[in-house]
Amino acid sequence: MNQDQKNNMSSSSLFSSKSSYLSGEIFIPGDKSISHRCIILSSLAIGESKITGLLKSFDINCTINSMKSLGSYIDFNSSNECFINGIGIGSLKQPNAPLDFGNSGTAARLILGLVSTHPIETRFIGDDSLSQRPMRRVTDPLVDFGANFNLRNSEFLPIEVKGAEYPIPITHEMKVASAQVKSAIMFAGLNTPGITTIIEKEKTRNHTETLFKYYGYKINIEEKDGKNFISFEGQKALNPVNIKVPGDPSSAAYPVVAGLICKDSSIKVKNVLLNPTRDGLYKCLDEMGANIRYSNKKIEAGEITYDIDVSSSTLSAIDVPANRAPTMIDDYPILAIAASMANGTSIFRGLSELKVKESDRLLGIYKILNKNGIDTSIEDNNLIIKGNAKGPKGGAIIKTNLDHRIAMSSIILGMVSDKPIEVDDTETIKTSFPEFIELMKKLGAKLTV
Ligand code: S3P
Repeated sequence: MNQDQKNNMSSSSLFSSKSSYLSGEIFIPGDKSISHRCIILSSLAIGESKITGLLKSFDINCTINSMKSLGSYIDFNSSNECFINGIGIGSLKQPNAPLDFGNSGTAARLILGLVSTHPIETRFIGDDSLSQRPMRRVTDPLVDFGANFNLRNSEFLPIEVKGAEYPIPITHEMKVASAQVKSAIMFAGLNTPGITTIIEKEKTRNHTETLFKYYGYKINIEEKDGKNFISFEGQKALNPVNIKVPGDPSSAAYPVVAGLICKDSSIKVKNVLLNPTRDGLYKCLDEMGANIRYSNKKIEAGEITYDIDVSSSTLSAIDVPANRAPTMIDDYPILAIAASMANGTSIFRGLSELKVKESDRLLGIYKILNKNGIDTSIEDNNLIIKGNAKGPKGGAIIKTNLDHRIAMSSIILGMVSDKPIEVDDTETIKTSFPEFIELMKKLGAKLTV
């Protein structure tokens, strides 16, 4: 969260206790990745865009505030519809204060890309969690466009940024499977004359590509020799749009898993985006034998959404291959909770990227499970979980370390534990899913402050 948000809050703890008979319907708020990208692209279009269903969260506020500081006009009406008057590609203005990205790696990295090809000098700052996350993976390719960066300890925020006045287009082969890095390069390419090309060995979430098309921007995507080639010419125009943001599958994952592992439960989770670059968790749950039904297929913002019905299930252990990681990178903590309730030993392979999320999530998951009596180990970046369908003993206090997904996963585990689990800080959940506690209570979760 940024400094203003910090001043307006105090962290609050919560107890999560055994819950059963979850029932009812909930509507999932807008996807975080798509919300960030809609704000940025609408700010660069010429004319007014209208965005409905935009996620309202601390992370998204960071993107809104930064884009306003860079010259965009962003307003909400009383029905929470967002109106953005874009200023056109290449017209960002010099901000008069550092840009504060709070907890949001996506906001910081995407906007680093955007600023890097404008003659802008500024400073990027963030909270304690964001200031420990690697940034060279983004700034290294941006240097090739002609930008300059001064990173703390050559890797971290705060970063002094000097964007290129005369950017040059690049062809970049991705070194790490990261949609944030890919999108940073795409946003840099927008204000660069000539053709920017990105080559992906492993496909990552493709919302930037889909939205480029939605905003009328010509982009070429081709698969050759098992690689994905994305290319487009810079300095063309983006059209304003009227867009509805689909619900976030990574937020939906928490009530979905709760509905599967809590006794005598049956719930409906509405408005969930399912895209082949984001659906790894749902594939895993299907393979584990979960009772899940998908209905009411719709198309929103060029993406497909479903309503998802889930009911209490007997789950089997799973072996998750490393190559599935990009499609479920944010969802391992909640899959680990499902695996802890499955019959048999699960193994999740190739989790090195989890160490550089909002906290070291590999260690974070290990701690949540072991502290609550679930036999778990880490071997060579693989996580091994011995499941027990009777549920764990619970009783631990979980330190969330400014990580919303560690907080939400611990709360779901408390709902099947013998003794309540205490989570030390629930404010962090507001980075991605402010309605989480209220919606889980509505379904019947026993959560007390
Ligand atoms: C995101 C990409 C992922 C994900 C993050 C959102 C995005 O990060 O973890 O929550 O919106 O592009 P990486 O691209 O670094 O894997």
